[in-house]
Amino acid sequence: MKVLIPALTLIPFCIPAVLGGHLPGPAYPAPEDISSDSSRVAASWKNVTATLDQTLKGGGLGKLASAMLKNTTFSMGMFSLHDQDASSLQYHHTAPSTLNGTYGTKSVDADSIYRVASISKLITTYAGMVKLHENDWNTPLTKIYPAFRDFVEKTAVDFDAARDIEWDKITVGDIAAHIGGIPRLGLPISGDLLLLSETNPAVLNTFGLPPVNRTEIMAQYPCLQTLDSGSIKCDIDDYVKGIASDLPRYQPGASPLYSDSGFFLLGGALANLTGMSMDDLYKKALFEPLSLKNTLSKPPSEPKDIKRTVIAGTVESALGEVPITTPSGGIYSTINDLSKIGISILNSTLMSIDKTNRWLKPVTFTGDLHYALGRPWEIYRYEYKDSGIVTDIYTKLGDSGSYTGLLVLVPDFEIGFSILGASNGTVHTQTIQFIADTLTNSLMPALVNQARQETLSNLAGTYKSNDKKLNNTLTVAVPSSSKSAPGLVITEWSHLAETLINWVPQLPPAKANPNLVRLVPTIQDIAGSGQIAFQMETVDPTGPIPGHLFTKMYSAGDWASTIDQLTYHDIPINEFVFNVDKKTGKAHSVTASAYNIELERQ
Ligand SMILES: *[C@@H]1O[C@H](CO)[C@@H](O)[C@H](O)[C@H]1NC(C)=O
Ligand SMILES: *[C@@H]1O[C@H](CO)[C@@H](O)[C@H](O)[C@H]1NC(C)=O
Ligand SMILES: *[C@@H]1O[C@H](CO)[C@@H](O)[C@H](O)[C@H]1NC(C)=O
Ligand SMILES: *[C@@H]1O[C@H](CO)[C@@H](O)[C@H](O)[C@H]1NC(C)=O
Ligand SMILES: *[C@@H]1O[C@H](CO)[C@@H](O)[C@H](O)[C@H]1NC(C)=O
Ligand SMILES: *[C@@H]1O[C@H](CO)[C@@H](O)[C@H](O)[C@H]1NC(C)=O
Ligand SMILES: *[C@@H]1O[C@H](CO)[C@@H](O)[C@H](O)[C@H]1NC(C)=O
Ligand SMILES: *[C@@H]1O[C@H](CO)[C@@H](O)[C@H](O)[C@H]1NC(C)=O
Repeated sequence: MKVLIPALTLIPFCIPAVLGGHLPGPAYPAPEDISSDSSRVAASWKNVTATLDQTLKGGGLGKLASAMLKNTTFSMGMFSLHDQDASSLQYHHTAPSTLNGTYGTKSVDADSIYRVASISKLITTYAGMVKLHENDWNTPLTKIYPAFRDFVEKTAVDFDAARDIEWDKITVGDIAAHIGGIPRLGLPISGDLLLLSETNPAVLNTFGLPPVNRTEIMAQYPCLQTLDSGSIKCDIDDYVKGIASDLPRYQPGASPLYSDSGFFLLGGALANLTGMSMDDLYKKALFEPLSLKNTLSKPPSEPKDIKRTVIAGTVESALGEVPITTPSGGIYSTINDLSKIGISILNSTLMSIDKTNRWLKPVTFTGDLHYALGRPWEIYRYEYKDSGIVTDIYTKLGDSGSYTGLLVLVPDFEIGFSILGASNGTVHTQTIQFIADTLTNSLMPALVNQARQETLSNLAGTYKSNDKKLNNTLTVAVPSSSKSAPGLVITEWSHLAETLINWVPQLPPAKANPNLVRLVPTIQDIAGSGQIAFQMETVDPTGPIPGHLFTKMYSAGDWASTIDQLTYHDIPINEFVFNVDKKTGKAHSVTASAYNIELERQ
């Protein structure tokens, strides 16, 4: 017992004056019912699609939205790990005026093939996640591309950090997260003014740019020579020779900069590290294991595929191919196949759960509090206005030429959706982003409400010991107000609720306030053992105060302050493990871990 005393006396020193803040991650087990008539999520989906219907008819969201939707062909669909029928939540709109008319589909459905543009970057990285060894991601690019190695050797003598890219310091993992500090694009695959000036010499005057020595430029960029033949068919090694001596934009690892070039290089690196062509890698890592019948790393060429392909604008741009750019933007897919990809990520179908957990994390911040970046996840931090709870949304946008698409995962709720769209103008970009916002703003509250409702029926209630002598009762409830932070609240824990809350040092002694003590899920193994572990977190009723970053550090960071502070025999006093039916998700008992008692649900 003695050991406990010093440990306990330490607590006040490592716990702050005011406690609270939210743990990251889910507040409830993921909802099981996404699609039925009684699901709030389905209701939200139907509300959004009914609104889109009205908007297409000229009402709903207004005139501009109406014109945008009318001029865009798009398909969208949901998916859920727990409800296969979620994929019945789909919506399609065909804008005949945006299609080519001669070629491709005349009416879109869930198997219509779209260019997914930069969603390709996510698919490429996923293939790498599946097939690479963890250490491969730390491989410097000089180990893969001889031209980079030569450049680094050549510049070693009078190296200049502002002029020379340190290709030996940039890793495969860096470029997958856009933090190589390398240019966005290199000649000849860019809207470079030099290229524009070839057809329109006035461009140089417009910008006041000096002429260049064409002989030197042609010698530097071997791929430029292939441009003269009309299409860019050069290989990655020639592209690398060209960009090796481009200027750095940041130092390696310093700051995010969206780089398509990085993904051309990533494709070459994955081919090198796995010893497979990228086409084979996509097939072996993803397309075959997931039975993706309509996902292609080459433009559709079979008549049966072209018939289902969305061809906006010219056929040349819709079905054109610049092979080295495929890992960045050249993949074709459908919302049905993107759902399979999304589900496989959420379910860790192709890799271990710990790997998935690490992948679904930011690598770097951006300059905006609401956006972060992974490999190459574009992470949006959705904040519930009422409760202040944050749910991270993992996305990848694709936006190139006539096509825009989004793959969206919400790991906290184990659901996601995809939207693929096209137009022969430029309107598809805004349209798809607008639809995604409309959907997200409706879905996120619906998801938390559905999860709350299911938790109410599955977990809430009174639990008692069968052994009458023990006289132990635990009552947990689900807050009904959207202003309350979601989670389970302990309203009764024999005499212990008050003890528990008063054990949290320096919180003003008080009756157990259900809004202060809440339980959130930490480990869920419903399919396996049928258990869900919850930990207690305490919420600071005053919330964060601007200008108090240090003094509020503990308040805003339960992960560092209250969680796992009070233990008995190394077991957290605050841990409750619900034992649930694997099929229905309904709890039959709860184990208070440190007390070593199982209480039956009444
Ligand atoms: C969608 O929900 C909003 C908010 O509840 C409501 O105002 C609107 O009428 C609904 N729209 C449709 C088409 O059901
Ligand atoms: C929609 O297309 C029509 C016809 O092509 C065009 O006149 C109109 O400007 C477009 N509207 C938008 C918002 O793109
Ligand atoms: C998720 O994986 C488990 C096996 O780990 C499997 O039983 C289940 O069917 C999968 N769920 C989906 C939706 O694929
Ligand atoms: C262009 O560069 C080449 C190779 O460095 C050189 O021989 C040639 O004189 C230069 N031309 C002009 C016009 O400066
Ligand atoms: C990978 O690149 C290295 C260095 O350029 C080269 O020696 C090796 O043969 C390449 N491996 C494959 C499978 O292409
Ligand atoms: C369809 O594609 C063909 C071939 O690229 C092109 O000539 C034609 O103008 C396109 N039609 C429309 C309506 O964009
Ligand atoms: C798209 O194609 C339709 C049909 O060819 C045409 O009427 C419309 O003007 C085009 N829109 C744009 C923005 O090019
Ligand atoms: C059980 O505890 C409650 C208070 O928590 C008390 O009122 C009741 O008398 C106790 N019953 C027994 C059998 O000890």
